[in-house]
Amino acid sequence: MVEIKGVKKYFKNIKAVDGVDLNIAKGEFVALLGPNGAGKTTLVEMVEGIQIPDEGQISITRKTWKENRTELHKMIGISLQETRFMDKINVRETLCLFASFYGKSQTRVDEILHLINLTEKARERVNALSGGQRQRLALGIALINNPILLLLDEPTTGLDPNARREIWSILNKLKQEKTASLILTTHYMEEAENLCDRIVIMDQGKILMQGSLNELLVSNNLKNTLYFNFVEKTDSQYFSDFKMVWKEEAISGKIILNEMNEDIRRFMKIIESKNLNIKDMEIKSANLDDLFILLTGRHLTT
Ligand SMILES: Nc1ncnc2c1ncn2[C@@H]1O[C@H](COP(=O)(O)OP(=O)(O)O)[C@@H](O)[C@H]1O
Ligand SMILES: [Mg+2]
Repeated sequence: MVEIKGVKKYFKNIKAVDGVDLNIAKGEFVALLGPNGAGKTTLVEMVEGIQIPDEGQISITRKTWKENRTELHKMIGISLQETRFMDKINVRETLCLFASFYGKSQTRVDEILHLINLTEKARERVNALSGGQRQRLALGIALINNPILLLLDEPTTGLDPNARREIWSILNKLKQEKTASLILTTHYMEEAENLCDRIVIMDQGKILMQGSLNELLVSNNLKNTLYFNFVEKTDSQYFSDFKMVWKEEAISGKIILNEMNEDIRRFMKIIESKNLNIKDMEIKSANLDDLFILLTGRHLTT
């Protein structure tokens, strides 16, 4: 569906995209995950035909921007990192305007209003919308031409968790329909985890690693961790079988869980047999931020 081969884009001495190869299958949902400055926008904009690679090739259904510009425009739906609307017209008029570019009917506009849950706001002026509603409208515009490839640049950045979840639920609906592929950029690992079949981790213009969430965590041997606090000072020797870190003279500590269930049962057995008093405990799942730290020494978001 999308083929990206050896793509580079430099701005003077900044290697924004520095040799990227990536193929995306029909119906596949792919997240480009990386911190600010990783090169996500530059890469996506080259796929969108907005920027031209210095080196390498990009094709969508084997068509290139150079030779099939009009045709490709009809096939893709895009939403840029910053969306500007015409503030003086309402939500419905905004969608009708874009529908007219593609020769789409009022019926399609109504379908989209329903999908993005803005039917009740159809007559509101765009500048009266909340951040989440604006982002849903931007998504509606991207979808109006029934694209087979959807490209969304940071669709939920700056939104509160509820507004973010509403966007995710629309995108999950599309995923079930299997009519379009999605490339989405984000620096939120939860977004990549929740929506995408494949997560492509980018940093400094390069792909560091890619795979499903589970593949990424398992192949890098990332484990869940058990954190605990005791009520009183405890002998660390009791737990010498575990891969463990003690803090504050053995009142608190953490254990890396190699085999989660088995390790927790063993841990609880010791607690019981030695009659120890737990103040609190928590299991933290390994996540993509742990992986990013492992790969780069830095957090995904600062
Ligand atoms: N038009 C431009 N001129 C100069 N530098 C740019 C331009 N666009 C992007 N960059 C630089 O390229 C790098 C990658 O940027 P970008 O693709 O926007 O990353 P991301 O979207 O992952 O935050 C950054 O260092 C950015 O400052
Ligand atoms: Mg960006």
